[in-house]
Amino acid sequence: MPAGRRAVLGLLAAAALLPCLSSADEEFHFKSWMLQYNRKYSLEEYYQRLQIFVANKRRIDRHNAGNHTFEMGLNQFSDMTFTEFRKTYLWSEPQNCSATKGNFLASSGPCPSAVDWRKKGNYVTPVKNQGACGSCWTFSTTGCLESAIAIATGKLLSLAEQQLVDCAQDFNNHGCSGGLPSQAFEYILYNKGLQGEDTYPYQAQNGTCKFQPEKAIAFVKDVVNITLYDEPGMVEAVGKHNPVSFAFEVTDDFLRYSKGIYSNPTCDKTPDKVNHAVLAVGYGEENGTPYWIVKNSWGPLWGMDGYFYIERGKNMCGLAACASYPVPQV
Ligand SMILES: *[C@@H]1O[C@H](CO)[C@@H](O)[C@H](O)[C@H]1NC(C)=O
Ligand SMILES: *[C@@H]1O[C@H](CO)[C@@H](O)[C@H](O)[C@H]1NC(C)=O
Ligand SMILES: *[C@@H]1O[C@H](CO)[C@@H](O)[C@H](O)[C@H]1NC(C)=O
Ligand SMILES: *[C@@H]1O[C@H](CO)[C@@H](O)[C@H](O)[C@H]1NC(C)=O
Repeated sequence: MPAGRRAVLGLLAAAALLPCLSSADEEFHFKSWMLQYNRKYSLEEYYQRLQIFVANKRRIDRHNAGNHTFEMGLNQFSDMTFTEFRKTYLWSEPQNCSATKGNFLASSGPCPSAVDWRKKGNYVTPVKNQGACGSCWTFSTTGCLESAIAIATGKLLSLAEQQLVDCAQDFNNHGCSGGLPSQAFEYILYNKGLQGEDTYPYQAQNGTCKFQPEKAIAFVKDVVNITLYDEPGMVEAVGKHNPVSFAFEVTDDFLRYSKGIYSNPTCDKTPDKVNHAVLAVGYGEENGTPYWIVKNSWGPLWGMDGYFYIERGKNMCGLAACASYPVPQV
C-alpha cells in the first residue's frame, strides 16, 4: 500500500477513535444535570465526564425514539460508564446462587391476578440507598424481612443492612463485595437476630461486626428457597405470602431505565451471571405484558420513585435463579 494511502487510512482510524464532539446543547444539558445531582469535577475530569454523559444521553434518546416497553432517562449514574458502575455497585464475583431444589411448597387454589404490597397496608419501608458499596443483597434481605414481619404483626420496622455487611461473612457473604439474601436470612436465623437501622446505622462500607444481641429486634424462624427457575412459585409466594428477594443480571441498559416494563432479549439467565439482588413487592399485567413490581436500593430518585417493573414469566435476566424469603419469628 502506498505510504500516502496508509497515512489517510491511519487518520481515518484515529478519527473513529476520537471522542464524539458534544454540541453546545448537550453541554448545557450536562451542566443542568451537574446542578441537579450536585456534581463538581476538576477541569480534566469535567471533559471526561461530559463525554461519557453525552454518549449516555444519545443512547437514551435513541432508545426512546424506538418502540420499547420501557423508557430510559438521565439519573445519578449518567456520568458513569457501565464498567465503572459495575465495579462499585454490583457483585464482583458470582455468588452461589442457585437453589436447585428449593423448599417452597406450592399450595392449591389460584393466585390473585395482581398484587401490590405497597397498597395493601403499611408493609413496605421507603426505598433506601446502598451508595457506592455492592451491598444490594443486604437491602433485598432487610426489605424482605421488614415486609414479612409487617404482614405478620402489623408493625413496620426498618432493619440494619450494616449488620449484614459487617457480620454475615460466615454464611458466604462478602460485605460490599456481594452476598445472597438466602444466606443472609440463614445468618439472621443462626445469629439470633438483626438490629434496627437506628441502633446499627448504614455506612456504605465494610466494617467490623458490632452486633449487640440485646438490641436485636427482628428474628427468623425459617428460610424458604424457591427452586431454580420456578417463576410460578415466585408468583405464588408474592401473591399469597409476602414480598420475595431475588437476583438478576444488570446490564448497561438497565442503568438508564426510567419507567415502564424492563425487558432485554440478550441478558443472561443463569445463576452464575446474576449480579444484583432486589425485592419483588408485587406483580401485574399491562397491555398483555406481565411484570414484576420491584423495589431497588439506588435511592428514590432512580427509576419510578426507586422502583422498576421487569417482564414476568420468562426468567428475564435470570430473575428466577435465586429467589427466597424468610419466615419471621414473631
Ligand atoms: C411496537 O412493538 C410491538 C411489539 O413488538 C408491536 O406489536 C407494535 O405494532 C409496534 N408498534 C409500532 C408503532 O411499531
Ligand atoms: C460458594 O460456596 C463455597 C462452599 O461453601 C465457598 O467456599 C465459596 O466461598 C462460595 N462462593 C461465594 C462467592 O460466596
Ligand atoms: C469487604 O469484606 C469482605 C469480607 O467480609 C471481603 O471479602 C471483601 O473483599 C471486602 N470488600 C471491600 C470492597 O473491601
Ligand atoms: C436455602 O439457601 C441457603 C443458602 O443459599 C442454604 O444455606 C439453605 O440450606 C437453604 N435452605 C433450604 C431449606 O434448602
